[in-house]
Amino acid sequence: MRIDILSAVPELLESPLNHSIIKRAKEKSIVEIHIHNIRDWSKDKYKRIDDYSFGPDAGMVLQIEPIYDAITELCSARKYDHVIYTSPDGERLNQKMSNTLSLSGNIIILCGHYKGIDQRIRDFLITKEISIGDYVLTGGELAAAVIIDSVVRLLPGAMSDETSALTDTFQDDLLAPPIYTRPADFKGWKVPDILISGDHKKIKDWQEAEAYKRTKLLRPDLLEENE
Ligand code: ADE
Repeated sequence: MRIDILSAVPELLESPLNHSIIKRAKEKSIVEIHIHNIRDWSKDKYKRIDDYSFGPDAGMVLQIEPIYDAITELCSARKYDHVIYTSPDGERLNQKMSNTLSLSGNIIILCGHYKGIDQRIRDFLITKEISIGDYVLTGGELAAAVIIDSVVRLLPGAMSDETSALTDTFQDDLLAPPIYTRPADFKGWKVPDILISGDHKKIKDWQEAEAYKRTKLLRPDLLEENE
């Protein structure tokens, strides 16, 4: 998978995309992530990429020209499955969407900034708008990092134990069951006996029952969606 990110503040993306599972996935060539500065496509001598919005509202808007040039250049080099824009107006990210995105070959993610981007970019160049929740961030970079993190960990080989992504919370519309590690008894706080019984079938049944119990208690909406 190849991901191209277009950003006005690329520095914001460097740390989240250079550690842990994503770092390993890049090293293993499971994913290529290219972070581009939109300013590189600015024709302005001061590398400006924003301008005042038309109308009475105050605030700066990302201009269409550098973004059009950036997307056109990328799309002339290869085919992209999605040109995504991160925005609070978009479709809300969930596990199902991350699963679907993880099947893509190449994607572009455009990060919004300032007051937003010229509407014509959204009308003519963007194929999908994604929100990570009902709140407003300063820019789309952190949202892009969240989307990429949730997608890359699903790519085959990205996690050392491939099955662990399948047992994630939400993967089957259930929260994950509780997990424990040693010591089995910490100051009298004990791990459930069943987990140290060695009976794998019973442990699986217990985990399924706990996942259901936890979902019913904390996120009953997930169960209702399936009824
Ligand atoms: N940009 C600003 N806020 C955002 C959000 N909630 N989701 C995605 N992109 C955003």
